Amino acid sequence: MCGIVGYLGARTCAPILIDGLRKLEYRGYDAAGLAILDASSGNGVNGEPARLSVVRAVGKLSKLDDAVRDKPIAGTAGIGHTRWATHGRPTEVNAHPHLVGDVAVVHNGILENHVEPRRALMGDGRKFASETDTEIAAHLIDIELANGAPNLLTATKLALARVRGAYAIAVVSRKEPDVIVVAKSFSPLVVGVSDDEVFAASDVPALLAHTRDIIFLEDGDIAELRRGKVKVERLLVHGDGATERFSVTPVVRKPKRIDWSPTQAEKQGYKHFMLKEIHEQPMALEQTIRGRVLLEEGDIVAGEVGLSEDDAQAIKRVVLLACGTSHHSAIAGRNWIEAIAKVPANVELASEFRYREAIVGEGDLVIAVSQSGETADTLAAVKDAKKKGAKLLAVANVVGSAIPRVAHGSFYTHAGPEIGVASTKCFTTQLAALLMLAIYMGRRRGTLGRERAIDLLGRLVEVPALMREVLEGSEACSKIARRQLVATEAKDCLFLGRGLSYPIALEGALKLKEISYLHAEGYAAGEMKHGPIALIDPQMPVIVVAPNDVHYEKIASNVQEVRAREGRVIAVVTRGDATISQVAQEVLEVPPVDAELTPFLTVLPLQLMSYYAADLKGTDVDQPRNLAKTVTVE
Ligand code: F6R
Repeated sequence: MCGIVGYLGARTCAPILIDGLRKLEYRGYDAAGLAILDASSGNGVNGEPARLSVVRAVGKLSKLDDAVRDKPIAGTAGIGHTRWATHGRPTEVNAHPHLVGDVAVVHNGILENHVEPRRALMGDGRKFASETDTEIAAHLIDIELANGAPNLLTATKLALARVRGAYAIAVVSRKEPDVIVVAKSFSPLVVGVSDDEVFAASDVPALLAHTRDIIFLEDGDIAELRRGKVKVERLLVHGDGATERFSVTPVVRKPKRIDWSPTQAEKQGYKHFMLKEIHEQPMALEQTIRGRVLLEEGDIVAGEVGLSEDDAQAIKRVVLLACGTSHHSAIAGRNWIEAIAKVPANVELASEFRYREAIVGEGDLVIAVSQSGETADTLAAVKDAKKKGAKLLAVANVVGSAIPRVAHGSFYTHAGPEIGVASTKCFTTQLAALLMLAIYMGRRRGTLGRERAIDLLGRLVEVPALMREVLEGSEACSKIARRQLVATEAKDCLFLGRGLSYPIALEGALKLKEISYLHAEGYAAGEMKHGPIALIDPQMPVIVVAPNDVHYEKIASNVQEVRAREGRVIAVVTRGDATISQVAQEVLEVPPVDAELTPFLTVLPLQLMSYYAADLKGTDVDQPRNLAKTVTVE
């Protein structure tokens, strides 16, 4: 998705903006641009507008950086943007900022009602340079200023009252070089403050090198940023957005102190963020568990979840909603919730749930699982469920993001920033959060005894150490990736698992396809006979997730079926395995662990194999083609 940055202070802003955009590269983009105000050439007063320079480039950020190095731009206030094309092709004219009159605008999101205003404005003789929806906003602000709006803030409010859709927007004007106006509605936007400077960005990592005091703007907020000062108002549009009726109320948004260090958001010596994040998983899991496990009582501290004993007893059904990798952790969560809290649980793709006439309401606990907390489909699905009377709980990583804000309660994974587009540490920390929630509910519903809870939690706190053991074997994963996936020029792979290993098979297949561009299917092993067995041949690697649990015998039979058809088997098994290891071509062992906890370990070799296959193939591991980290549009 697009990334926005803004800076206002005493320093030359071009390098600060480019550095901020670099920290947002993980969101995915195909063009970038800056608009910089140089107040030394005019302060906007008495008809002396400041110089406003706009520079844009298609492709990687290095192109924009080169352009700015070739022709340095003076100025201490500006906005920047990385664009991921939604309306109009990835070209320089469609790249932001869009300049109309004295005003430059950057925007993330989609303005839904852009067609009619564009037609009307063109009818009035206005010329459009781009195919984007964003340029409408720039024209509308320019018109309001021409019609006598006293300042940029008012003009932006009047313009936004006429648009509908999702946006995070930042605006500057030649006439007010000491102001940036920002506004947010459904797309992420944060403001960073320090003594004499102010920053804006789509996400926190872009600001950490400068400040840790972050204001999380809410939907409907519009803010005027000045050096060291932030004035926030709430803009309420009445009607359908086609008219200018709106009300404005001042609000106080206090900065939150963010404890992620800037280096946490860097690669720390790893070749890719994804590899760093794979290796961070034991630490990330410790952060998720920290302070929440009451070992002696066999219980979980989770005040922020907002579920009393009565609430927990009253739950008739749990519905887990998520997309992508988060959907896979939600499947494991469903199994734990049913097994431990003994409550019926369904798991659904948010993108499907939101468009069918889903029956959900009172008595349902809806759990939204989302790393970013901003995924458009998940957000829309949970808002709908909340409206119908369900209780809403968010399992998210990004504190203060949209989904936790609409939820009645939240359970943060505290995994730290995840920069690699392919999710890894957020998957395993989601697993931990969901298991802890199942235990929390089980204790409150009386379905999980103290002794069993103590036992389970005692094993959960040992998981990070076991993960470290698995990660030490990363060399073997690299060799198998080379031998079986790259050297053989495999085109298709099948991942099989049962029970808690089924979501791991799905996740293994998703990781492989998204970063190495190999076709891969995750399947419930019991379904193999119902179709996929026809695919088995000596060329296709079959990755079998087969830890020592109740499904072991059954999956061992599946392995035999694959081998009988000369299929190549890569098996992930528990150390000491004697059966499957005998027949598989390649074996990856994980340490013995309680059957309920196997997903934390079995997913690691699959993440590593995918990583090494992609790295050997030379793909862009951290920013795979066509993918965006945070999917804030449908
Ligand atoms: C895959 C991946 C995506 C996300 C999905 C949901 O590696 O990262 O499939 O899991 O886009 O994102 P969140 O969890 O932010 O809602």
